[in-house]
Amino acid sequence: GVAQDGYYPGLEGVISSQTAISNIVERDGAGVLEYRGYRIEDLASRVGYEEAAFLLLHGDLPTRLQLGDFNERLRAARDLPGPLIRVLGELPGSASPMDVLRTSVSLLAHDDPDRDAAATDHAANVRKAERLIARMATAIAYRERLASGLAPIPPDDRLGHAANFLRMVTGEVPSEAMRRAFDGSLVLYAEHELNASTFAARVTVSTLSDLHSGIVAAVGTLKGTLHGGANEEAWKLLEAVGSPGRAEAWVAGALARHERLMGFGHRVYKKSDPRAVILKEYCREIAAEKGDDRWERIAEPIEVAVGRKGLPPNVDWPSARLYHYLGIPLRLYTPIFAMARVAGWAAHAIEQIDHNRLLRPRGRYIGPTHRGVSEIDRR
Ligand code: SDX
Repeated sequence: GVAQDGYYPGLEGVISSQTAISNIVERDGAGVLEYRGYRIEDLASRVGYEEAAFLLLHGDLPTRLQLGDFNERLRAARDLPGPLIRVLGELPGSASPMDVLRTSVSLLAHDDPDRDAAATDHAANVRKAERLIARMATAIAYRERLASGLAPIPPDDRLGHAANFLRMVTGEVPSEAMRRAFDGSLVLYAEHELNASTFAARVTVSTLSDLHSGIVAAVGTLKGTLHGGANEEAWKLLEAVGSPGRAEAWVAGALARHERLMGFGHRVYKKSDPRAVILKEYCREIAAEKGDDRWERIAEPIEVAVGRKGLPPNVDWPSARLYHYLGIPLRLYTPIFAMARVAGWAAHAIEQIDHNRLLRPRGRYIGPTHRGVSEIDRR
């Protein structure tokens, strides 16, 4: 979609807000992503999700004291309110985990201690965001256990955010390498400037609606397969190819049928998504720890074949393999994207509220005009 005198299909290339939260650029063919001025490569290798979330919400990396207090607040918020526990047990088994998560965020709004705070109350919005970080993780894991006919596993206060989630879903405490890889994936999923779901959150709160309404809008937006839903589709693509030797022909056939190859291409990164580069290393490391590189050997020729079309792997391509290696059920891949991205969504929503201007673009009318209303029996 190329701009035609003020019309930008899909808002491609449009700057709709100024933001100090993250910056995405492509330099010399390599994607560069920074959160509050810190390169994502440094953050993913040196801090955990808690520190990255604190950075996004508060603007700086936490001191040891600040991190301790933040972790205490997260632990205190991990348990779910009664009404949500009841609903998680009553929603039909066929309900998609992203729909259940959207409903969960709505219900968490009703039980939030700051529910009566003004929509513009910065401190209350930060507290709401911190509680959502903790509770979305518990809600996803709790519902998954119920939907699998298994007893829910309560949060374990001895574990950090990443390990606690894996244990609540799988029942196992992960190895240090698995914990670190999962924690790194949450850091990499945490924020990405004005992607569609973040933009949805900003539009929502730009009317002075509340933070939870903005996060509900973001969850609904992320669900789509062109956005967060791509990581589950990426796994299905890997399974459809099934062996390294079939990759070339399979990709050629799919492209000939004008199919979208999920996990590839990006609105901003045209050469390389820096997150996919880091996640691919985690995939190789955990595949080696598990002693099975089958899916790595299938992924490689797919990347080569699709790369020849100028479509780089995006963040959703390697995360699908990593989550498979970690024993996470496929239907949780996109909810995990959401529980990580809620830090970025909330940071943007709060930034929007603090420096607000209603987000309201125009439409160019191309329909018929000057039509007369005829009697119903003559239409
Ligand atoms: C995320 O925005 C963000 O930052 C998102 C995200 C984040 O962190 O928030 O990075 C997370 O959503 C990553 C993207 C996950 N989605 C997918 O993997 C779905 C598959 N990808 C595509 O649908 C596509 O690449 C988009 C939607 C991601 C971006 O598409 P654009 O910028 O709208 O580009 P386009 O659809 O106009 O495509 C340009 C051309 C088209 O060919 P023509 O019709 O012009 O001949 O490239 C082709 C497309 O057909 N193309 C693809 C393709 N992506 C683009 N063809 C096949 N497979 C693909 N994946």
